[in-house]
Amino acid sequence: MKILAIETSCDETAAAIVENGQNIINNVVASSVELHQRTGGIIPEVAAREQLKYLIPIINQALSKNFKKEIKSIDALAVTAGPGLIGSLLIGVETAKALAYIWKKPLIPVNHLQAHLYANWLEGKTPSFPALGLVVSGGHTDLVLIKNHRQIKWLGGTRDDAAGECLDKCARLLNLGYPGGPAIAQAANNLKTNQKLKKILPRPMISSPDLDFSFSGLKTAVLAQFKKMEKDKKLNQLSINQLADEIQEAITDVLVAKVNKASQTYQVKNILLAGGVTANQRLKEKINQTIKNVPIFIPSPKFCTDNAAYIASCAYFNFNPINWHKVQANSSLEIKEMIK
Ligand code: KG4
Ligand code: ZN
Repeated sequence: MKILAIETSCDETAAAIVENGQNIINNVVASSVELHQRTGGIIPEVAAREQLKYLIPIINQALSKNFKKEIKSIDALAVTAGPGLIGSLLIGVETAKALAYIWKKPLIPVNHLQAHLYANWLEGKTPSFPALGLVVSGGHTDLVLIKNHRQIKWLGGTRDDAAGECLDKCARLLNLGYPGGPAIAQAANNLKTNQKLKKILPRPMISSPDLDFSFSGLKTAVLAQFKKMEKDKKLNQLSINQLADEIQEAITDVLVAKVNKASQTYQVKNILLAGGVTANQRLKEKINQTIKNVPIFIPSPKFCTDNAAYIASCAYFNFNPINWHKVQANSSLEIKEMIK
């Protein structure tokens, strides 16, 4: 089964064709990140307008590379229905609905967070259940127990900011650019081992008995350190890199500790990392050093960040289509499904 998927939940405009949930035929991503670099973060209306500009050309590219627009070979469409920025989401959902209606194809609404996990099905391997999932993105930090494709139990998550948001906001404070995760990692990489600071930042909730996270206090702690360095006239390239390194260490320490705790509590066959923050090299190093007894899946960086290939994969393994072209005007059930 070939699924054409569309992803427009944030600042990436993406379309992909994936066969049987694992074989990528085409995967096209356009990012408006350069535009957001100028403002140091995403302005939702700007992101939505970029989606409007790029979505049809991106779908066209995904189709025409191998398919010469032969829509016939596509069995179903899939689209990110949420969570995400509402303006950006609407463009993807309404476009997918229109295409499904015109082409008379079933349309599968997909949850963006669940879909992130399916990046682990795209690189030639198949994870086994039950699995533990850590989804860490710009908007979310969640730990889940995946019993099977249809049964996912939420174990814990952030009580305030997501890890990615913390990285983005701290990078903005340190004037390192956007997106913050890669910018902080790059600044940290500039340090020699003997230049690293001792622990000056808190590791929030690292020893709490639950599987929750909290990153907003870390942002405040970084601001306090930054102001102190400024007051002491110690703000320079080296101290900025040192602070960036400490931020990366603090966040990855907490993420790894909570995954480790969850893996000791639940007997799982695999651990699956997903979401933009899991592109972080230091996180990979630490988790592989800490957890030895459970095989860990970590997608390649291009599958960690937003794309439509994992949307197609999630749609295949959770096939719950709406036959949009058959929906009657008085049928509210399917409409509710699309906007949940
Ligand atoms: O999953 P994603 O692409 O979009 C959302 O669904 O939010 O995640 C974006 C987040 C941003 O906060 C970005 O700073 C972070 O992922 N990120 C990284 C890296 N690459 C992206 N964080 C740490 N290290 C990276 N290499
Ligand atoms: Zn995402």
